Amino acid sequence: MKNSGQDIWSQWLLNRRFGGDPERLSYMLDFLYPVRDKVLSRINLDDGGTLLDIGSGDGLIAFGALEEFETCRVIFSDISDDLLNHAHALARNMKLQHRCEFVRASADDLSMFEDESVNAVTTRSVLIYVSAKQQSFKEFQRVLKPGGQLSIFEPINRFAYPEPEDRFAGYPIMPIVELAQKLKAVYRRIQPPDTDPMTDFDERDLMIYAEKAGFSTINVELQIEVKPPENTDWGTFLHAAGNPKIPSIEEAMQQAFTLGETETFTSYLRPLVESRQGIHRSAVAYLWAVK
Ligand SMILES: C[S@@+](CC[C@H](N)C(=O)[O-])C[C@H]1O[C@@H](n2cnc3c(N)ncnc32)[C@H](O)[C@@H]1O
Repeated sequence: MKNSGQDIWSQWLLNRRFGGDPERLSYMLDFLYPVRDKVLSRINLDDGGTLLDIGSGDGLIAFGALEEFETCRVIFSDISDDLLNHAHALARNMKLQHRCEFVRASADDLSMFEDESVNAVTTRSVLIYVSAKQQSFKEFQRVLKPGGQLSIFEPINRFAYPEPEDRFAGYPIMPIVELAQKLKAVYRRIQPPDTDPMTDFDERDLMIYAEKAGFSTINVELQIEVKPPENTDWGTFLHAAGNPKIPSIEEAMQQAFTLGETETFTSYLRPLVESRQGIHRSAVAYLWAVK
């Protein structure tokens, strides 16, 4: 995987997730802005107060909150120093710094925050990377004031992964099934589906974690989508990586294939990608709760 001197979270969020393709980034933001708005619609800081955004990344939720709730303060927290620095620089440029704090913290250990110290906690696509999910919910509950609000969005990757034998990345690949198996093995070695935190839970587990942590009112909404893929660009298909921990398809092909196998795989799959002959399946969950 490429190393730009930034940590894997920063490299992925700021480049690898959209394969460096601005058009793909724009599609991605068309999806992400409504998600951000929905996460923020479940909390109310109209009268001010402090929001703790866990795994704030480049600030999708955190900057959204600063705009939506004019007098609130936002704590950006993340395990990535590079992303905290990036978000800090953005806040300075936007002259919002006086309403922000930047704290290195892992979702499952918020010990630097006092009990009952914040009015709202948000996370988007963070718990998928955390093994200790129950502990994280306990921490969210502990730092929230009584009546405090929690709002979460997480992909439910178990819905679409692992894929059936005859599919790869949503495309029908029966004629090249053995090559696809080699490629899938690269990904399975890095993220075994039964134990990896990205695939070891679903929306019901999220609800149970929240209930066991002591939240009094809990709501969960599941959204499932099955549709043709949006991307038709082979280069973007090759260069994008599904998450920070895995290689791009091009990198996985370099690991798994001989030159001849790369040619066979490419000449079969490329026309399918370019003519959108696949099916993109996804499920996501929103959870919002009150302490
Ligand atoms: C997919 S990004 C989401 C970023 C941001 N929440 C957003 O909505 O765009 C995942 C973020 O989680 C952070 N992260 C990963 N593991 C974490 C952990 N254990 N605790 C807190 N943040 C974590 C990563 O550094 C990254 O910024």
